[in-house]
Amino acid sequence: MTELRCDQTVAWSALQGHWQAHGRDLDLRTLFHADPDRVNRLTIQAPEVLGDLSRCKWDVATTRHLFDLARECQIEARRDAMLRGEVINLSEGREVLHTALRAPKGQAPHSDQVHAVLDQMLAFVERVRATAGGSQSGDIHDVVNIGIGGSDLGPQMVVAALDPFVHPRLRFHFVSNVDGHDLAEVLRRVDAKHTLFIVASKTFTTLETMANAHVAKRWFLEQGGQDIARHFVATTTNVQAAAEFGVTTTFGFWDWVGGRYSMWSSIGLPIALALGAEHFRSMLAGAHDMDGHFASAPLERNLPVCLGLLDLWYRNFHGYASRCVAPYHHGLRRLPTYLQQLVMESNGKGVDAHGAELNCSTSAVVWGEPGTNAQHAFFQMIHQGTDVIPVDFILIKRPTFSEEAWLSPALRTMLEKQHAILLANGLAQAQALMWGKTTDEAEREPRPSTASKTVPARELALQRTFPGNRPSLTLLLDELTPKALGALVALYEHRTFVTGALWGINSFDQWGVELGKVLCQEVSSRMQGGELQGMDAATTAMLQRLR
Ligand code: F6P
Repeated sequence: MTELRCDQTVAWSALQGHWQAHGRDLDLRTLFHADPDRVNRLTIQAPEVLGDLSRCKWDVATTRHLFDLARECQIEARRDAMLRGEVINLSEGREVLHTALRAPKGQAPHSDQVHAVLDQMLAFVERVRATAGGSQSGDIHDVVNIGIGGSDLGPQMVVAALDPFVHPRLRFHFVSNVDGHDLAEVLRRVDAKHTLFIVASKTFTTLETMANAHVAKRWFLEQGGQDIARHFVATTTNVQAAAEFGVTTTFGFWDWVGGRYSMWSSIGLPIALALGAEHFRSMLAGAHDMDGHFASAPLERNLPVCLGLLDLWYRNFHGYASRCVAPYHHGLRRLPTYLQQLVMESNGKGVDAHGAELNCSTSAVVWGEPGTNAQHAFFQMIHQGTDVIPVDFILIKRPTFSEEAWLSPALRTMLEKQHAILLANGLAQAQALMWGKTTDEAEREPRPSTASKTVPARELALQRTFPGNRPSLTLLLDELTPKALGALVALYEHRTFVTGALWGINSFDQWGVELGKVLCQEVSSRMQGGELQGMDAATTAMLQRLR
C-alpha cells in the first residue's frame, strides 16, 4: 500500500487554506446561532457511547476537508490492514491484533489460540472466585498484580471503574513501581495464606516487575508459604522465563498484542478475577461492538474516525498542546492515567514509520482528573488561562450502586440525587467553557462582598470575565457496565490509531523508553560503587552525593 502522510496530501493544503481563510477564527457561539441543526449533525451514536462533538471548534467546511484528508491517507485501507493482521508494526515486525482478543470464535485471526487461553483463564478465575474469602489456606482474599505500564494500568483502571461488579470478598492491589515502598505498603496488609500474586509482564524481563516479583516470592517463603504453584501465576508472552522464575501456572499471550493494548488478553486476569467470567466476556463484547463500528461505519458517522481527525485538527492547526480528560464518575479516576500511556506512548513520536522527520506536531499531552474534583483544582486555568485546552467530558447517565446491607432505600435515594448534581456540574462546565461571560455581563452582576473597596468595578469585572469559545466534547454512556467500559476503551484505542495513521507514524512501538532503561543499568552498577570515570559531570556529581 502506498501510504500518504497527512502533510503530503492535497487535502492538507486545502485544510491550510481553510485555516487561513476562516478556520482559525471559528467561534462556537456564532456556529451555534447560525446552525440550529448543529447538535444533531455532530452527534454520533456508536455502540454504548454517544459522542456529542457539537462544541468542538470546527464547521462543515473543516469536517469536509478532514474527511478528504482521511480518504487521501487511505485511512480505511490502513484500518482494514490492521484488522486483517498485516504486519503494520514495521519496526518490530509484528501484526497489531488486539481486536482479535475480543472477537467471537472464528471471526478474527488467531482465534483458536485466543479462545483456548481465554477459556482456560476464565475456568481458573471461576475456581478462585468459588472459594474466595474462605478460611482454608489457599482460599484467596487478596490479589496482588505485579506489573507496570500496560501490564498494570488497564487492569487497575477497570477494577476501579467497575467496583460495583467486583467480587465482594476479594481485594485487589496493584504494585508497579520499582520503589520498594509500593510493594511494602501491600505486603504489610496481606496474609500469605490467602494471597494470589500475578506476575504480569509481556516480556517477563521488565526490571521493575522482576524486582518486585522476587521480593514477593521471598516474602511468601519467609511467611511460611509453601504452595508457590497456588499463590503465584504469570501472565506473559515469555512462558519459559516465567517457568524459570518458578511459576507453573501461566496464561500466555502473543507478541502481536502491544503492552498498552493488552488488557483484553491474559493481562486482564485481575479484571476477570474481580468481575467473573461473564462480565469479562461482556467487556470484550463491548469492545468488539466498537471494533465493528470502527470497521464499518461510514467515515462521517464513525466516532473514532471523527475523534482522530479532531485531534489532528486541534494539534496541527489550532496548536493545542494538551487535552484534558474529565470523567464525571469516581470509578473512572484512573482513566486519564490509562489514556496517557495509550495516547502518548503510541503517538508521541518525532519521525514517521519510515524514519523521516515529521513536519508537524504529534501527540498532545493527555491529562485529567474526575469531575467534580477537577473543577476545584485546575479548571480555573481551563476557563480563564492563556492556553486553550479542549476537554473530553465523560458522563454516565445512571449511577450503579450494588445491593449492600448498609445501603438503605433512603441512602440509595440520597446517593442517586448526588448523581444528578454530578451530571449537572459536567453540563455546566461545558456550557461555561463555550459561552463564557462578557465583561459587561460581569459588571452587571452584584459586586463580590469580599472585594476590596478600592478596586474599580470595571477592573473587577475584567477579572470575572470568561473568554468563552473554549471547546469540549461529551461522551455519554447510559451506565458504567463492563460492556460500556469495553466500548469506551476501544473507542479511545481506535481514535489513537486514526491520528497516528494520518501522521504516518508507527503507533505500536515505543523506542523512546529504551535509552533510559539501558543507561539505568550502567548508572546502577556505578551507584553500587563502580568506577565513576566516563560518566557526564552532572550524573557524576549527583552519584557522589547519593552514594
Ligand atoms: O516501558 C515501556 C513498556 O515496554 C510498555 O510499553 C509496557 O506496557 C511496559 O513497559 C511493561 O512491559 P512488560 O509488560 O513487558 O513488563
